[in-house]
Amino acid sequence: MTQDKKTFYITTPIYYPSGKLTIGNSYTTIAADTLARYKRNEGFDVFFLTGTDEHGLKIEQKAEAKHMKPQEYVDMMASDIKKLWKLLEISNDKFIRTTDDYHVAAVQKIVEKLIAQGDIYLGEYTGWYSVDDEEYFTESQLAEVYRDKDGKVSGGLAPSGHEVTLVKEPSYFFKMGKYADRLLKYYEDNPTFIEPEIRKNEMVNNFIKPGLEDLAVSRTSFTWGVPVPSDPKHVVYVWVDALLNYITALGYMSDDDSLFKKYWPANVQFVGKEIVRFHTIYWPIILMALGIDLPKQVFGHGWLLMKDGKMSKSKGNVVYPEMLVNRYGLDSLRYYLMRAMPFGNDGMFTPEDYIDKINYDLANDLGNLLNRTISMINKYDDGKVVSVKAVTEFDTALEGAYETTLTDYRKHMDKFEFPDALASVWAFISRANKYIDETKPWVLAKDADKKEELDSVLGHLAEGLRLIALLISPVMTQSPIKMFAQLGLDYDNDKSLKFGDTVVGKTVTSDPTPIFPRLDAKEEVEYIKNKMAEEKAKNGSGKLSKSAQAKAKAQSESEDEYPKEISFDDFSKVKMVVTEILDVKRAANADKLLQFTLDDGTGIDRQILSSMYEFYPNFKELIGKKVVAVINLKPRKIRGEWSNGMLLSTEAGDDVKLVLVDNSHKNGAILG
Ligand code: MSP
Repeated sequence: MTQDKKTFYITTPIYYPSGKLTIGNSYTTIAADTLARYKRNEGFDVFFLTGTDEHGLKIEQKAEAKHMKPQEYVDMMASDIKKLWKLLEISNDKFIRTTDDYHVAAVQKIVEKLIAQGDIYLGEYTGWYSVDDEEYFTESQLAEVYRDKDGKVSGGLAPSGHEVTLVKEPSYFFKMGKYADRLLKYYEDNPTFIEPEIRKNEMVNNFIKPGLEDLAVSRTSFTWGVPVPSDPKHVVYVWVDALLNYITALGYMSDDDSLFKKYWPANVQFVGKEIVRFHTIYWPIILMALGIDLPKQVFGHGWLLMKDGKMSKSKGNVVYPEMLVNRYGLDSLRYYLMRAMPFGNDGMFTPEDYIDKINYDLANDLGNLLNRTISMINKYDDGKVVSVKAVTEFDTALEGAYETTLTDYRKHMDKFEFPDALASVWAFISRANKYIDETKPWVLAKDADKKEELDSVLGHLAEGLRLIALLISPVMTQSPIKMFAQLGLDYDNDKSLKFGDTVVGKTVTSDPTPIFPRLDAKEEVEYIKNKMAEEKAKNGSGKLSKSAQAKAKAQSESEDEYPKEISFDDFSKVKMVVTEILDVKRAANADKLLQFTLDDGTGIDRQILSSMYEFYPNFKELIGKKVVAVINLKPRKIRGEWSNGMLLSTEAGDDVKLVLVDNSHKNGAILG
């Protein structure tokens, strides 16, 4: 009965919607999804939570740079993140946004409760704050300090390398120190609370033993956050707001906390190694103060690195999941991420490795096994699976190999050793390929006396493939369905993990198609590298051809944020005047360019080239109209013609229009 099922609650960190998510963020989510799917396969009643962390100064600034209200901005970004998780077939049961009303209300109640019980008190904060990390630092925690001429500290860098600024403001503080001993005791009594072990030592030695300082948990210098109800000029520190999502999502402090009662405490919380501290010090202490059980485990996984270090937009070494999925399919990405590196360690993404894994593991090993098996069943048994009754020792050995694989696989999956679990499945795939070579069905088929042996071999292979499909199904979401379809099986049933006779009597497809076509390694490595270079060029430093670089840069500039403020001097450097279009024609050798002859009031015609043909196919209608031109831009030669300035236009998505002014403005009149 479902009520008796054991529950399993798994969470991912909630993501900052401050930029497009990369394969790095996708890594955490795909790992959690893999575990959720595995646990469901194993019969657990799983609750899998992910979401977005939408408050804080960083978000407020991003929104401002895009000239949007913070709420509009996070709505847009959260919707993109949801789209991405749909593309990656993430099977989360809930998506929480920290701007959701129920979350905000619960956070407010929790903070008031903690103030009332004396765990949170009002004081004054002085220290260093990194907006990018949303983190406060004491001077001694800074990786680098800047000093003024008198030797006074004037700024510095956080351990992440981000700039910090001095903050001095009234703030509510959480009495973390009060709980330090209880926390250490909890670590001792629950040795697997923090995994891997090395992360625990880091927490104890670097943070708890030196003395836990009280944590500033409110800010008054910006407003994009959850206001403290009894003192609303304060908003709750974004990390406290964010951490609470794991319980508010279940209805804690709401009218209906049945999910909280059912699923809390979390069985495991997956987090990247850089945020283990928040999850294994602040988070458990907040829970202790609330009198709530602590999560059973926090697992700090490693980073997916690039050759030049961690993926970051500023380094221009970012790989986005959409590009890989669109070109190579979802399963290769999911397989790659779960196979490439042990979950607790760092690993490196290289295009070569990505393509090799598709070619060797997926196309060769798995794809060929399926293809060979189905072709032989068609050829020797008219497409029908006849029997799986073991006849020879090869058959029993294959069954034994499966038992070993299943045991290993479960052992590894239970410990989140995803690459090892996959390796045990691939060991069975190799074993099955070898079994074909050992039993030689093409030889058995020539001897009528060997019919029983032949049927058994083909049945063993089909059953083996059914089981392989099931074992990889937590990681790969599409191939198992294709494999079942090719084997004539029903994906909603036929799911027992026991080696048996499920396949007997089934008819395989008469037209097997490879589930992973083999790729041209050289060409595809080039493709990925080029895509990465395009991203890099958007940040200005790629190894692309000049024109591709210009294109990427132009695209990125249009997406780029403007500086928050410019001086009046900056503005007044640009000379804009009203001009009249005397003539316009298409520029020679250029599809998109129009060549304008303009009267700018000087008596000398001015020529400007502008990419407007696409938007004004009937461009002759523009003659006689007045437009705004920037006239002190350095002249440039475009396709052999000089362009002396730039025409102003507006752009709203695909809609581009010249800025026209009415005829009452004199030619040469200055704008400003
Ligand atoms: N908002 C906070 C988490 C709050 S949880 C209460 C946050 N968000 S994040 O968007 O910056 O990061 C979310 C997760 O993505 C982290 O676990 C982080 O480690 C992970 N990754 C981001 N880039 C990564 C790699 N390149 N490799 C692996 N995971 C990385 O922190």
